[in-house]
Amino acid sequence: MSPIDLSDKVDEILDAARPLHIVAAGDPVLRQRAAPIDGQLDGKRLRRLTDAMRDTMRETQGAVGLAAPQIGIPLQLAVLGTPPALEARLIESGQAPVPFTVLINPSYQPAGTRRGAAFEGCLSLPGWQAVVTRPQEIELTWEDGAGRKSVEQFSGLAARIVQHEVDHLAGTLYLDRAEIRSLSTLEETVQRWGPAGLEATARELCFPLPQDDEADV
Ligand code: NI
Repeated sequence: MSPIDLSDKVDEILDAARPLHIVAAGDPVLRQRAAPIDGQLDGKRLRRLTDAMRDTMRETQGAVGLAAPQIGIPLQLAVLGTPPALEARLIESGQAPVPFTVLINPSYQPAGTRRGAAFEGCLSLPGWQAVVTRPQEIELTWEDGAGRKSVEQFSGLAARIVQHEVDHLAGTLYLDRAEIRSLSTLEETVQRWGPAGLEATARELCFPLPQDDEADV
């Protein structure tokens, strides 16, 4: 997409109603490597796009992240953060809420060898969840909206959300990494497997968990 076409596409999206339309699995934009952000959009457009993605994420129940390809924009941009409504439940289950963060041109690598398994879902695959094993700790490099570069370690839920969103920017969906036998409807996940716990889920659906399992379901 040329910078002019891209700006037109962004303007079209910004003019549309909120929440923004989410691209579903099957659209090739979700399977391509997004282009690094390098001046294709002016600062004002980029900020408005980021705001629209944040609003869409917050208006969509259960959403903790949104990558630009999911709204049809093939750029290395994602937003993430846990909703305030989820905060109390997270703290109760021993997890730290994740503050709102804008990721531009992000990349991550595992930090350490610990891996954890948990159910994940995706707005582009509505109605389903599956268990994904991922590194528990990662080191993330990214830029913010003002072009400042950051390098930081993330662990637990924040590390999982970051990996899921950054994977989107490489054309990877969580299902590519999932234990496919764990695939469950949202209803089954919430009503059956949430209360049962991850070990019982793995036993009954017959899929393996990582050896040094530190489940963060
Ligand atoms: Ni997703």
